[in-house]
Amino acid sequence: MKRLFKGKKILLLMMSLVFLLSACSSSGTGGQSDSSSSNGSGKSSDKLVIGFSQVGAESEWRTANTKSMQNAIKDAGHELKFSDAQQKQENQIKALRSFIAQKVDAIVFSPVVETGFETVLQEAKDAKIPVFLADRAVDIKDDSLWVTFLGSDFIEEGRKAANWLVEETANTEGDVNIVELQGTVGSAPAIDRKEGFEEVIKDHPNMKIIKSQTGDFTRAKGKEVMEAFLKSDGENIDVLYSHNDDMAIGAIQAIEEYGLKPGEDIKIIGVDAVRGAFEAMAAGKMNVTVECNPLFGPQMVDLIEAHLAGEEIPKRVAVEESMYTMDQAEELLPTREY
Ligand code: AHR
Repeated sequence: MKRLFKGKKILLLMMSLVFLLSACSSSGTGGQSDSSSSNGSGKSSDKLVIGFSQVGAESEWRTANTKSMQNAIKDAGHELKFSDAQQKQENQIKALRSFIAQKVDAIVFSPVVETGFETVLQEAKDAKIPVFLADRAVDIKDDSLWVTFLGSDFIEEGRKAANWLVEETANTEGDVNIVELQGTVGSAPAIDRKEGFEEVIKDHPNMKIIKSQTGDFTRAKGKEVMEAFLKSDGENIDVLYSHNDDMAIGAIQAIEEYGLKPGEDIKIIGVDAVRGAFEAMAAGKMNVTVECNPLFGPQMVDLIEAHLAGEEIPKRVAVEESMYTMDQAEELLPTREY
């Protein structure tokens, strides 16, 4: 009995030694660590706590984007802390501060507008919480305040919209009068989609933007502003360029109520390629939509995990996109995921 007891003691001692040695080798300074369990900041990346500050729920696009992010975070086994800013920058700043106070492992952030986030992003950096920009960029010089920006090329979307119009009106004589429904004032997609569109049409002097106003990316506002455009310029309007499909859909309603045919009397160009746009195109009421893909949740989760595992990731990751016209709508409608 005594011998057995002594043997047990030695075994226990040896096991503790092995345990101690293995613990040292996985946490030692400069030691190579398993990428799934260490992120260089000492936090486990097996289950992460991710704070996501979303713009709002202003459009079909946004709803699809929120779902994509929520599902991807859940499917990867991480915990999500979600905050809807209701399109207000001050709500977003509060949400970011609350994520910092809760010491989340990573922050995903779709900025409502481009400017005014320096201070809060610096606070996140000081707290060593990596920030990932989703969908929209910020206009800040110090790019060390975020890890990467994953989203669409909004300038290119504006160019695509204008190039379609150039082709479509190639045989048209005289002026092409365009009204423009802009997105949220100060937001990256509103600024960039305008810039890309204007860059192309400036080489076509017959193309004129006769009215341009914000519709804040919502259907209700899109309808309201289009009603005002029709009131002042009515039969003079040839084309509507809308920075998103939701505003275009609202405007289509206004055009019909005014007694004109959307898609024929007034050509309608939207951005996003949401289901609603495909339905409008299939009904002959909208001509084209430039794709802006919101389904990048899984790609974002991959980027967060890669960064926390110590991998180098690019500062800018673009989402690949296409463009769809009226004649493709019926065939593609059943395949649309958002
Ligand atoms: O930032 C992307 C834009 O925001 C989408 O085009 C628009 O629908 C949304 O509200």
